[in-house]
Amino acid sequence: MTIAILGTGNLAVTLGQAWAAAGHTLLLTGRDPSRAEEAAHQIGPAATAVNPGDLAARADVLVVAVAWEGLEAALSLVGGPSGSLAGKTVIDCTNPVDYATGEMKPPSGSAAALAARTAPGAFVVKALHMYAGASWPYPGPQTSAPVVAICGDEPAALDRAAALIRDLGGRAAVVGGLDAARQLEEAAGFVMRVVAAGHNPRQAVPDVDLGRA
Ligand SMILES: NC(=O)c1ccc[n+]([C@@H]2O[C@H](COP(=O)([O-])OP(=O)(O)OC[C@H]3O[C@@H](n4cnc5c(N)ncnc54)[C@H](OP(=O)(O)O)[C@@H]3O)[C@@H](O)[C@H]2O)c1
Repeated sequence: MTIAILGTGNLAVTLGQAWAAAGHTLLLTGRDPSRAEEAAHQIGPAATAVNPGDLAARADVLVVAVAWEGLEAALSLVGGPSGSLAGKTVIDCTNPVDYATGEMKPPSGSAAALAARTAPGAFVVKALHMYAGASWPYPGPQTSAPVVAICGDEPAALDRAAALIRDLGGRAAVVGGLDAARQLEEAAGFVMRVVAAGHNPRQAVPDVDLGRA
């Protein structure tokens, strides 16, 4: 699959490296062409830096890996508001959260909903915002693999995102439509709050016996 990554920072490189190892082709773009070149170089031969205007037409899936503050600008750079992403799966990984306090930055709504508004017609899936990019690929068995909660309105886009998560070694859990995205984004903020309080978030949620739930 040809995966386009919008963003040239840490998440773009780490996810790109993991998907390259799974045999995918990566296209990288961002607001700074030299950063896109550098990110593609760090990923390796499977990755190429492309002009923002060329990205949408060449991609099967677009992964958004930019700072929350740059979400609208970045999607605009690739023609989102003009419909360039209509019919495409767009995986939004952004955290609209203050990393130090865990507080959500937008008072209402979600980053994923903003992505959907900025790229009309795109099939937006919220996914992969919770785990560090460097956690992938997960090398262990599927039975103990990290569960990636995802949400979105389009079944085919959810399937595509789930397949890409499988290629990282993870397991996708579809938790609802795109209206569940704020809760997923809040969950990342919760994790940051628990870390700020000096605890491992893994121990801050109950261990549920699914056989008895
Ligand atoms: N790092 C992780 O492990 C991880 C895991 C899950 C989710 N995330 C989320 O993924 C996103 C990226 O994280 P990161 O760690 O990769 O951050 P990063 O290394 O700081 O990279 C941020 C990226 O966003 C771009 N950007 C920032 N402001 C922008 C603007 N106004 N317009 C356009 N582009 C802009 C940067 O472009 P320039 O280089 O030109 O500044 C860069 O490509 C964040 O929302 C983060 O919460 C990160």
